[in-house]
Amino acid sequence: MQKKIIGNWKMHKTSVEAQKYIKTFLPLVTHAKADIGLAVPFTMLESLVGCGIKIGAQNMHDAEEGAFTGEISARMLKSAGATFVLLGHSERRTIFGESNAFIHKKLVRALLEGLAPVLCIGETLEEREGKKTEKVLAAQLEQCLSGLEKHALEKCTLAYEPVWAIGTGKSATPEIANDAHTFVRTFIQKTWGCTLPILYGGSVTGQNARALLSMKNIDGALVGGASLDPHSFSEIINQGVS
Ligand code: PGA
Repeated sequence: MQKKIIGNWKMHKTSVEAQKYIKTFLPLVTHAKADIGLAVPFTMLESLVGCGIKIGAQNMHDAEEGAFTGEISARMLKSAGATFVLLGHSERRTIFGESNAFIHKKLVRALLEGLAPVLCIGETLEEREGKKTEKVLAAQLEQCLSGLEKHALEKCTLAYEPVWAIGTGKSATPEIANDAHTFVRTFIQKTWGCTLPILYGGSVTGQNARALLSMKNIDGALVGGASLDPHSFSEIINQGVS
């Protein structure tokens, strides 16, 4: 499977800064084999279309359209040039109270509009210490993907992002991450009879990318903080993809 590396810019950068970033970033990527994407703020989607890498959004509303002040629809994202959308990021779940049921509705809408969902799942530190990781991951997968046909599911990418590793500088060890990925892969295989790309996210850097991405069931990375700088993001790609 081709390695997939997605940067998640969260609420960072202006359109002008994004253009500067791309100019610096592209010549630094020596590994043409990677499937590279950037999940950027809505305001710069349109201006990045055709920049040489895939452009996606970080969130959307589940409704087709309507009286939802401040929200954005899948159709709007698609027309602005997004090809994928992150759904269920732990910051959306914890800060904005998004439930699995709501994420499921968004996922169905994204698929209907032709946007490829990147579904984020992961356990908190408390859940890991309480040995509930697999139970939590299974519930997130079951509820967020409920009722999907195999052909629809195959348009999705999964991102395992343990909440305790996001933005903390404490990445999961390659073994811990790979164990979770193996569980997720087996769960999907047993329930839907197919296999999906599973990215790891949580404090990925140029220093740990190679070890993480060389694990059997880790198909790529979802990178937050280290994707903000073109040098560190390209280092992850150059180190992690071989
Ligand atoms: P991080 O974030 O790489 O800064 O830990 C990952 C993410 O939130 O997707």
